[in-house]
Amino acid sequence: LVAGVDSSTQSCKVVVCDAATGEVVREGRAKHPDGTQVHPDRWWEAYQEAVSGGLLDGVSAIAVGGQQHGMVALDEADTVVREALLWNDTRSAGAAADLVAELGGPQAWASRIGVVPVASMTATKVRWLAEHEPEEAGRVATVVLPHDWLTGRVLQEGGGFTGWTTDRGDASGTCYWSSRSGEYDTDIMRCALGREFGVPRVLGPSEAAGTTGSGLLVAAGTGDNMGAGLGLGLKPGDVAVSLGTSGTVFTTSQTCPDDPSGAVAGFADATGAYLPLMCTLNAARVLTATATMVGVDLAELDRLALAAEPGADGLSLLPYLDGERTPDLPDATGTLSGLTRSNATPENLARAAVEGMLLNLVAGVTALRDQGADVERVLLIGGASASAAVQQVAAHLFGVPVVVPESREYVALGAARQAAWALSGDAAAPEWPMAVSQPAQGRGTPEQAAEITGRYQGLLRTVHGVGSG
Ligand code: XUL
Repeated sequence: LVAGVDSSTQSCKVVVCDAATGEVVREGRAKHPDGTQVHPDRWWEAYQEAVSGGLLDGVSAIAVGGQQHGMVALDEADTVVREALLWNDTRSAGAAADLVAELGGPQAWASRIGVVPVASMTATKVRWLAEHEPEEAGRVATVVLPHDWLTGRVLQEGGGFTGWTTDRGDASGTCYWSSRSGEYDTDIMRCALGREFGVPRVLGPSEAAGTTGSGLLVAAGTGDNMGAGLGLGLKPGDVAVSLGTSGTVFTTSQTCPDDPSGAVAGFADATGAYLPLMCTLNAARVLTATATMVGVDLAELDRLALAAEPGADGLSLLPYLDGERTPDLPDATGTLSGLTRSNATPENLARAAVEGMLLNLVAGVTALRDQGADVERVLLIGGASASAAVQQVAAHLFGVPVVVPESREYVALGAARQAAWALSGDAAAPEWPMAVSQPAQGRGTPEQAAEITGRYQGLLRTVHGVGSG
């Protein structure tokens, strides 16, 4: 048996699988506080709760997938210096702009490391710390990521810790490790903290971080999106659209993208290749916020959205409730536009929320295509993909076939597959049967889809001055 962990923004999920077939035999989960900063001990507590009651009995190897980018700053004694600043914390937007300008502008960054930093990325959080909390910054000896920290914690607890480790995928989200060179960029690190600092050793896709005293092999682990890529077994032509706390659009590639607009980040993946990725800060929670506003639960919101016509009778929502990352509008708020006395219904509001959330991700698919990605189908995953309205609107607006893989914890599953790979010592990841997918059925014409998309883009231009033409 092997286990995979998904330590996400809101919870910890663990799946235990048969190492040969990937069949899930047991699962555990526990919630931890969310927000934009949290003490890493909360992740450890949630992990312990999720694996309690013997969940890991008989497990030979484990790997941790985790939310990307979060800054876990440690002192000389490996004690956490302050609460971790997470991927969805936008306070370092100014630091991001400064770093971009100081090191030659967006194209220079895209060419140098494959990614143009925005507030989500670790380097910008390090810079923010140096500028705003100099006493804490002065104590920083090492910076690791959420999955690195939890991996190390599992090894510390098991008596097998020999030093901090990470993998290519998560390292590429720091913006001080280059997807292009496969090395840390010490100039960027100095630019961020004013001096160099300790960083985790970058492991290869099937390397182990260590073994506990009880013989549990702990694999490298990876970022959550890289984990989902491995769990889904993404093939060229597949584009995953993940609707969780964040919305992500990503694909697999043998080459690192070069996008100075910053929309597509050139992350490394968990197989030795690349994971071109676009991320929004506003996904599933747009639906929960809308449901709260209308005064219904999510099931009723779904029913309302399905009852409205495509296009919500002219109502549009720019869903930037938590600010936004792509487009890079950290201080943005949401905009509801086109309201009239006749279209002001709960049904249209629900539909506008689903459409607005997905149109941000439609832009991500376009951005991937602009980077040369082959887009043959969209695989819709993550919590909000279970919604019938989301499936219907996605099938209408993405312009390519949309399929919904069977409901599984793909991040945790990918981590488990990585654990099985490390355990096998083989050159390639084990061939586990991949997701069985159901096609989603859209409602509405291509002309309506073009009108809805155009209306959204027009609003984005009018309100935020973003976009061309
Ligand atoms: C990706 C990103 C998010 C987090 C949270 O760049 O910031 O998807 O990994 O899950």
